[in-house]
Amino acid sequence: MTFDRRIKIAPSILSADFADFGREIRAIEAQGADWVHVDVMDGHFVPNITFGPPAVAAFRKHVTTVMDVHIMIAPVDPFIDAFAKAGADILTAHVEAGPHIHRSLQAIRAAGMKAGVALNPATPASAVSHLLDSVDLVCVMTVNPGFGGQKFIDMSDKVRTLRAMIGDRPIHIEIDGGIDPTTAPLMAAAGADVLVAGSAVFRGGSVENPAPYGVNIAAIRAAAMAAVEKL
Ligand code: DX5
Ligand code: ZN
Repeated sequence: MTFDRRIKIAPSILSADFADFGREIRAIEAQGADWVHVDVMDGHFVPNITFGPPAVAAFRKHVTTVMDVHIMIAPVDPFIDAFAKAGADILTAHVEAGPHIHRSLQAIRAAGMKAGVALNPATPASAVSHLLDSVDLVCVMTVNPGFGGQKFIDMSDKVRTLRAMIGDRPIHIEIDGGIDPTTAPLMAAAGADVLVAGSAVFRGGSVENPAPYGVNIAAIRAAAMAAVEKL
């Protein structure tokens, strides 16, 4: 993975057909996804359950871009090696998941993955100010994690603060939750480069009819890029 700040669209397979993940992943990649965003939920850190490392390992066989795994679980550390073995390229854990996020991030890198840290809406940018040498990605949640299809919470100020804190460091700013062609420009203008979108990518399409995925991805990308070009 080479680092760049160009806008990247990362469809979340939380909005895919859960009985057909392989074909759904191939469809979104064929329709222009830059990364594939995989949401792991434990029913404890967040009020929903999705899937764990064995499922993520099965997804890996279908991903040819970047597998971006967002773990909404606590504790984190006992599962890091399992996600490395499952083939995660990036593993993003929440700063709120436990008292030792610095240790978790070091363990993620030691296991051979890029390390991401996610911030819930209530958590300030300053929570990561002492972590910047230990992370490759900061994920700003623009919904409370747990479900797809929720209403966007504007975190422009937080993204701007993070962008200034990060400076020239090779750290991605990812936005997760409620991203569509109307909200993507706000986040891109504030300094985000990775836009996760679930419902706004999968709506209107299916594995039998994947063209709407491509239309949706292109619309989010165009809206975000227009905002960046205006800066
Ligand atoms: C929310 C997940 C998101 C979710 C985004 O907890 O982390 O990745 O799938 O879904 P939308 O784009 O529908 O808000
Ligand atoms: Zn996510």
